[in-house]
Amino acid sequence: MNHAVDIALFVHVLSMTVWVGGMFFAHFCLRPAMSDLSPQLRLPLWEGVLGRFFVWVAVAILLILLSGGFLMSRFGGAQAPWPIHAMTGLGVVMMLIFGHIRFGLYPRLRRAVQGQKWPEGAKAIGGIRRLVTVNLVLGIVTIALGVLGRG
Ligand code: HEM
Repeated sequence: MNHAVDIALFVHVLSMTVWVGGMFFAHFCLRPAMSDLSPQLRLPLWEGVLGRFFVWVAVAILLILLSGGFLMSRFGGAQAPWPIHAMTGLGVVMMLIFGHIRFGLYPRLRRAVQGQKWPEGAKAIGGIRRLVTVNLVLGIVTIALGVLGRG
């Protein structure tokens, strides 16, 4: 049983690292490095980079839910300390925001790139950037709650 908890924690933290670390890299390293490129180069590059990243985020979300659900069952659900409930709540908000990015804004970026409509593409990537920033902040708070909840 203890090994199962260790494995679940490992999977939980690894998945969270891929998701939050990827957002950190995109926001603080890739975005500033690409800012001098023309929209004709920048937007197709974002489309390719994000399309690949979002597949990994979807895998990470699935694993976070499975491992988090398993770890939660150890506390008997409602008996878990408040930071764990807060982590779960914020985690779900992050997942909803990701869903909006992936299924709302990203298809707009893809259509704009395919139709070479650069102003529309720039608008879509601007929306994605804002929501990724929100999710990055929520992710950092969620990590703090997860660590606090270890009790
Ligand atoms: C949304 C569903 C989630 C559920 C049900 C969930 C549940 C849990 C549970 C039950 C624990 C174990 C706490 C303990 O053993 O004391 C845990 C640990 C943790 N979780 Fe989550 N979690 C979720 C999402 C997230 C997200 C989105 C993040 C980060 C972005 C996160 C970060 C952490 C961290 C950092 C720990 C502490 C790991 C350690 O003990 O070192 N969790 N989670």
